[in-house]
Amino acid sequence: MTLLKIKGVRKTFTNGEIEEEILKGINLSLKEGEVTAMVGASGSGKSTLLTIAAGLQPTSDGQVIFEGENMSIMSSEEVRKVRASKFGFVFQFAYLVPFLTVEEQLQLMLDVSETKLKKQEQKNEVNRILKLVGMDHRKMAYPSSLSGGERQRVAIARAIIHKPKVLFADEPTASLDSKKSEEVMLLIRDLTKTLNITTLMVTHDEEMLVYTDRIIKMSDGVILQDVI
Ligand SMILES: Nc1ncnc2c1ncn2[C@@H]1O[C@H](COP(=O)(O)OP(=O)(O)O)[C@@H](O)[C@H]1O
Ligand SMILES: [Mg+2]
Repeated sequence: MTLLKIKGVRKTFTNGEIEEEILKGINLSLKEGEVTAMVGASGSGKSTLLTIAAGLQPTSDGQVIFEGENMSIMSSEEVRKVRASKFGFVFQFAYLVPFLTVEEQLQLMLDVSETKLKKQEQKNEVNRILKLVGMDHRKMAYPSSLSGGERQRVAIARAIIHKPKVLFADEPTASLDSKKSEEVMLLIRDLTKTLNITTLMVTHDEEMLVYTDRIIKMSDGVILQDVI
């Protein structure tokens, strides 16, 4: 099923006097249970498209349709609610809170995402997700004692603990070595399949593309190629 649809999306930025069109009419439908990777040269508009699809910035023209609802005409509060309850985010760096343990990072996320679980249910949920990402043995650890790959696993756990429908990942393996990159990519793929998430990611790493269902090649604000 198509969960997220991008229709005729354009994005223009104005730098002083100069107007530059960064996205030039993008059409894209993303299906549940699939990992779609965006590739392309730096500056081709990948992150801009990802953040627009995620409701983090508005379009200049066109629509983003999530679960049949046009996000482009929602109020910023409505968009925030969709983002908080239905979307998860992973970036190049894990951005964990240095003074919280792994377990506490996830509890904090449950507290802010309005899931309304009781304390014991929260604990169970945190344990379940940590098992899923292979980090349950490190739940009392602080970020400084984790490896880069382990931190990214915790970041992924934090991104999915509120059961989002869509996972947005911008260069999630860019700061990892090739073995750790492969492990993190396999984890993203497994979670997408087992939890039936719709995953949209950006990557520079050609080796990661074997783990994706679909590859979108961006060039200069347009989709050059779409390989399924
Ligand atoms: N907020 C902004 N204001 C002005 N220009 C921007 C802004 N965000 C992105 N750009 C420009 O849009 C182009 C595409 O950026 P981006 O989407 O980050 O590319 P990619 O992720 O493919 O490297 C770049 O030339 C960048 O400088
Ligand atoms: Mg980028």
